[in-house]
Amino acid sequence: MGLEIEKGCVKLSNIAISETHGEDSPYFAGWKAYDENPYHEITNPSGVIQMGLAENQVSFDLIEKYLEEHSEAATWGKGAPSFKDNALFQDYHGLKSFRTAMASFMEQIRGGRAKFDPSRIVLTAGATAANELLTFIIANPGDALLLPTPYYPGFDRDLRWRTGVNIVPIHCDSSNNFQITPKALEAAYKEAEAMNMKVKGVLITNPSNPLGATIQRKVLEEILDFVTLKNIHLVSDEIYSGSVFSSSEFISIAEILEARKYKNAERVHIVYSLSKDLGLPGFRVGTIYSYNDKVVTTARRMSSFTLISSQTQQLLASMLSDKVFTENYIKTNRERLRKRYTMIIEGLISAGIECLKGNAGLFCWMNLSPLLVLENKVTREGELELWNETLHEMKLNISPGSSCHCSEPGWFRVCFANMSEQTLELALQRIRDFMAKRSGTEKMIFQN
Ligand SMILES: Cc1ncc(COP(=O)(O)O)c(C=O)c1O
Repeated sequence: MGLEIEKGCVKLSNIAISETHGEDSPYFAGWKAYDENPYHEITNPSGVIQMGLAENQVSFDLIEKYLEEHSEAATWGKGAPSFKDNALFQDYHGLKSFRTAMASFMEQIRGGRAKFDPSRIVLTAGATAANELLTFIIANPGDALLLPTPYYPGFDRDLRWRTGVNIVPIHCDSSNNFQITPKALEAAYKEAEAMNMKVKGVLITNPSNPLGATIQRKVLEEILDFVTLKNIHLVSDEIYSGSVFSSSEFISIAEILEARKYKNAERVHIVYSLSKDLGLPGFRVGTIYSYNDKVVTTARRMSSFTLISSQTQQLLASMLSDKVFTENYIKTNRERLRKRYTMIIEGLISAGIECLKGNAGLFCWMNLSPLLVLENKVTREGELELWNETLHEMKLNISPGSSCHCSEPGWFRVCFANMSEQTLELALQRIRDFMAKRSGTEKMIFQN
C-alpha cells in the first residue's frame, strides 16, 4: 500500500484476524501464481495456463448477440424504464419482472419438471452471499453444517468465516465414485456430536463442484430422509444446474419435493446464481429459493447487505424473459460444454490419465494418484509436491483435491471452459509432455 504508516497495536475483531477464510490454501495460491505469470499466446507463450477457475466463457457470443439485437435492454433508450426509476429503485424485494424471469429460467433449466414461485425468490449478490445468508439463518456460531467431500474450496470462506459455523466433512471416496451414502451421513453427524457441536444442516452441491457430476435420485431421497429424521435443514447449491450436458440427467431437489407433495419441504433451501450457467460472475446475481416462509422473510431482510443493482436486474429481466433467447442459449451452451468435456477427457486419456465420469460443470475430476503410488507418496504432502510440479513445470494451475478437502490424495480439479480451444489443446500437450517424462505412464489407466 503506497502510503507508509507506522504499524500500531490497535486491535481488530475476531473475524478480522480469524484464519478460517482459507485464503492461504493452494486453491488461491495457484491463482496468485497465475496472476504473476499469466499465459498469453503472443506476449507470454510459456506462462501459466489458468485451469483453476470455474468460469464459463464458451457462450459469450450468444449474450453479445442478444445485446446487439436488443440494445434497449442495456441502455436507457426507448421502451426501457427511465434513468430516474432505476436510479431511485432500492426495494430489497428486487424488481418483480426480474424475480419472475429468474423463476421461469430456473424452471426451464429443469426441463419444466419443477415449479418456482417468484414470491419465494430472494435476490443476493451471487451464490457466495446466498450461502452465507442461509448459514446465518439456520445456524449459530459453534454449530455445524455437514458437507460431502470433496467440496468447493470457497465454502470455507462462505459458510465458516463470518458466521462462526463449523464445517464437518461427510467423507466420500472413489470406491463408489464419491457418492454420498447414509452411512457416511450418519458418521459425519456422530463426529460433530462427539465434538459437542449441534448439527443444523447438510449442504450439497448438485451438480457437484469439483466432481462435475450430478447426484442420483436415490441419493437425494436418502439425504432428504436423513435431514427429516434428524430434523435439520438441507441446502442444495444448484449453481451448475444449467451446465449439465443433458437436461434429463439433472434432478433438482425441487423435483423430489414436488413428487413428495412438499411434505417436509420447509427445511429445504435452494441456492442458484447466474455466475456459471450464463458466465456472468462479474454481474453478481444469485438467489435463495426457500420453501420456508420465515427463511424467505429473514433472507430478504438480510439481502439489504448484498443487493443486485437495479440496472443489472433490468437488463437480465429482459434477457431471461425472452424465451427464444433462453431456449437457444441453454441448448447451445450445453452442447458446447459437452464438446469441451469430451475434448479434455480424450486428451487426458491420450496422456494416460483417467477422470471420474462426469456429466456437468466446467471442470473434470482428474486422478493422478497412480503417479503418487509409483513414487510411494500417497499422502497429502505427496499430492502438494505434485501440484507444485504441475504449477511450475507443466505451467498449469489446477486445484489439488486437498484444497477441496478430499480425503484421498492424488485427485485434481481441472477447469476447461475459461479458455479457447487452442489454449486447451496447448494445456493438454503440456500434460502429455509431462507424463511422457515420467516412467510407467502406461500403467496409470485405472477403471472407474
Ligand atoms: C458450488 C459453488 N457455489 C457458489 C459459488 C460462488 O458463486 P457466485 O459467483 O455466484 O458467488 C461457486 C463458484 O465457483 C461454486 O462453485
